[in-house]
Amino acid sequence: MSRKIAIMGAMPEEVEPIVSKLDNLNIVEYAANKYYEGSYNGQDVLVAYSKIGKVFATLTATILIEKFKCDTLLFSGVAGAISPELKVGDLIIAEGLCQHDLDITAFGHPYGYVPEGDVCVAADEHLREVAKQVASQKGLRLKEGIIATGDQFVADEARKNWIGETFKADALEMEGAAVAVVCSALNVPFFVLRAISDAADMDASFSFDEFLESSAKISADFILSMVDTIK
Ligand code: ADE
Repeated sequence: MSRKIAIMGAMPEEVEPIVSKLDNLNIVEYAANKYYEGSYNGQDVLVAYSKIGKVFATLTATILIEKFKCDTLLFSGVAGAISPELKVGDLIIAEGLCQHDLDITAFGHPYGYVPEGDVCVAADEHLREVAKQVASQKGLRLKEGIIATGDQFVADEARKNWIGETFKADALEMEGAAVAVVCSALNVPFFVLRAISDAADMDASFSFDEFLESSAKISADFILSMVDTIK
């Protein structure tokens, strides 16, 4: 049986470069959102942007799997860099994802942990291998590391450094770990790719506005090459 691949972003800019390349496009409206069904070089895909943040990302990932029966989920978008190695436009894939704003430390638990959960949810190994293969074919540098997620646009050096030190994270964003929790609970292989839009510092909002579109496209183009390799 052939795969049904979900491609998810958070913002319109993150999915537009993908939707614009689909054949047989059909838009389904469901749960206050649009789902873009189509095919890419013969592979069935379903594309959606969730809106920003963990709650919307949870809703969209769940619908892609439970209603549309997607069996693989690829997330594409932008992130703020924590690692000084990462510059605007660079790509990072998540080895694992954690929630930097999840805090019941008052009960003696570590940051990012709640009972019966994990601090860090690992992304699918095979999909990460596919990404490395695509990067080497394209001659692109691809960093693999921990991505930290929270319902917060980080524009503060101290907060960024705290997240980096606490979770050994290399980049941060606002949806990845929510998608990871949904996919791991439902046994769906998933993968999160981000291109850097800013350095999560005091200039982050300006850098984000300037580079959202170009970095989102870098990530989207890479994801489409992965679809070609997976199918
Ligand atoms: N996504 C891109 N840049 C970000 C930042 N600085 N904080 C949170 N999410 C982001």
